[in-house]
Amino acid sequence: MKKTFILSCTVLLTLCLAGCKSSDKEPAYKDANLSIEKRVNDLLSRMTLDEKILQLNQYATGPNDNPNNIGEVIRRLPSEIGSLIYRTEDPELRNQLQKVAVEETRLGIPIIFGYDVIHGFRTIFPIPLAQAMSWNPELVKQAASVAAKEAWYSGIDWTFAPMIDVARDGRWGRIAEGYGEDPYTTAVFTEAAVQGFQGEDMSEPEKLAACLKHFAGYGACEGGRDYGYTEISRQTLWDTYLPPYEAGVKAGAATVMSAFTNISGVPATINKYLLTDVLKEKWGHDGFIVSDWGAIGQLLNQGATADSMECAVRAFNAGLEMDMMSDCYGKFLKKALEEKKVSLAQIDESVRRILRVKFRKGLFENPYTPSTTPEERFLLPESKALAQKLAEETIVLLKNENHILPLSSKNIGVIGPMVKDNYDVMGCWTAHGNKADVETIWEGLQKEFEGKANLIYAKGCEIEGDDHTGFSEAMNVARRSEIVLLFLGESRWFTGEDANRSQIALPVIQQELLRKIKETGKPIVLVVSSGRAVELGTVEPLCDAIVEMWHPGTVAGTPIARVLSGAVNPSGKLALTFPFSGGQMPIYYNARPGGRPLQGKYTDIQTAPLYEFGHGLSYTTFTYGELKASATTLNKQDKLTVSVDVTNSGDRDGAEVVHWFIRDPVCSITRPMKELKHFEKQMIKVGETKTFTFDVDLLRDFGFVDENGDRFLEAGEYQIIVKDQVLKVEVK
Ligand code: NOJ
Repeated sequence: MKKTFILSCTVLLTLCLAGCKSSDKEPAYKDANLSIEKRVNDLLSRMTLDEKILQLNQYATGPNDNPNNIGEVIRRLPSEIGSLIYRTEDPELRNQLQKVAVEETRLGIPIIFGYDVIHGFRTIFPIPLAQAMSWNPELVKQAASVAAKEAWYSGIDWTFAPMIDVARDGRWGRIAEGYGEDPYTTAVFTEAAVQGFQGEDMSEPEKLAACLKHFAGYGACEGGRDYGYTEISRQTLWDTYLPPYEAGVKAGAATVMSAFTNISGVPATINKYLLTDVLKEKWGHDGFIVSDWGAIGQLLNQGATADSMECAVRAFNAGLEMDMMSDCYGKFLKKALEEKKVSLAQIDESVRRILRVKFRKGLFENPYTPSTTPEERFLLPESKALAQKLAEETIVLLKNENHILPLSSKNIGVIGPMVKDNYDVMGCWTAHGNKADVETIWEGLQKEFEGKANLIYAKGCEIEGDDHTGFSEAMNVARRSEIVLLFLGESRWFTGEDANRSQIALPVIQQELLRKIKETGKPIVLVVSSGRAVELGTVEPLCDAIVEMWHPGTVAGTPIARVLSGAVNPSGKLALTFPFSGGQMPIYYNARPGGRPLQGKYTDIQTAPLYEFGHGLSYTTFTYGELKASATTLNKQDKLTVSVDVTNSGDRDGAEVVHWFIRDPVCSITRPMKELKHFEKQMIKVGETKTFTFDVDLLRDFGFVDENGDRFLEAGEYQIIVKDQVLKVEVK
């Protein structure tokens, strides 16, 4: 492997000629007492053009674990390379590669090693979409921090996460990777994830540099077709797709990845408005932007450029610093400079940004990964305990007729293709997640119900296909049971990159299984394990209870078993709308009202979704007091506090999430029917009352952004909405 890093003679010769004026004094860039800016500038002043251009490139090393990363070539990589995608979990190999860069190149610039650590590295946490259902940013932050630790000890410096693309069309497989349909929710979890990955100071051990992706509007792919076209007005960009990025930049995210998509005619890769005007100039981001995989070269396919030189020039001049896997910068930037198509000042500025992140990450002081055994860094008991806790909080009780849950039966049929699965339940993008580590649903149930109930299992069918041979055994099991737990769901390949589905219903074979079980007359608890909100409209009436457990990751069994038994009172709530039918998509709660409220309905199905954003049942009941406001008439500079008391009036302790929405009924630009502006989750014991509070910042929460991203607050009536209560306030 080391061999691939041996410099080619020509490069070596050029570098020597350019850099041989050695001095006895340590160069300033090696002095950790100097400011990062001084060090960056000193280093930059010593670099040759070839060295600078090499910093702007990223290639991959190690076996490909992503079927979408196609068209790879094996090549000899110079050790002055800016970055490597590091696809193994062996820190030793990284250290060998790094040693050549740091100790055997002229300037000793460390490589930054990146990887997709999306929801865990070896301990796999619930998919990000599920994490949002917990409404618990603190747990999400902790999960990111565990992921960072496992990855860091495995040789990774930089994660290509969080993925913060608001998504409203479940056909798009990458909906699983983000935090749902709402810009505010996504912004809050973005902040949590960035803090978890980077910590207070990302140069500390066990931390990773974060990367906000995919900038921007990737979730708007038409028809859910990945890599496809997106039609996004500037207003919608600012309303919907940019808020999470702004929050991530404010939270200090080190880097950003541009999206694959074409945004209203201008691909994100060359979108100067986004990459430079907004990100750098308006928001002041001073880290760097990496392209998505091969995206600079793919401008050719998008019809944006005529040749690879033009790809390099347009992406570079738009403000994109690092070329992931296209080799357009490597091959053409020098020539582009000679032809005056790019400037040296711009090359310097781009390299400066990359070096800045490397210094901030502490790579010059600590370029190597300390040695640990896999047992010392992976799947620690506390990491698994956190994975369990987070998974428990992501589970959403969608329906519970006649309080059939929690279970009280003694003979329980456990049926379905997900029951003994240890692979699909990990979800998409599982880094080094290993199915041998997974605790299956079956194992979790056995542990939880041991000595309390008799569990009888039948698989029934596979996730997909038309093999019905398991149906009769499944029906026999159902007949012998008092109640059936039916575990249906999606394979991990139904979601993730390029996992587009034309329909989001459960596969036909699984629906058939459900209908067969229904014929036995036994009550059915449907538990869905999926990476998106699946279409349940037609199967919902057949089920007595429905629970969504998502793709929970390594600790799959215990969380759902504890919810079903009642050991855990479910507290998850939807961070995206469950359509009644896939034909309703895109569907989301914060739409703008139409001109004819009583019309514009579907004529063939209900227009309302099956389950609304924010829906989620508990085993207890919560009684809401009246909404209170510190004032109801305000000047624009005033502060406002609103609160509500919530009492646990049921017979079980439970956690409640209060969602605070606002509405501006009349505005110079039309506004959504409801906009989430704050949420809070609190545990409330039986009989206890807790106060939930929202400190409203009038400009931030009542105001709106225009199509240039400027914020305004207009005088008039505003509504604060919690459940079915509406409190009106007047801003003068
Ligand atoms: C392509 C994906 O779109 C992106 O999310 C990922 O980070 C890169 N490949 C690297 O694997």
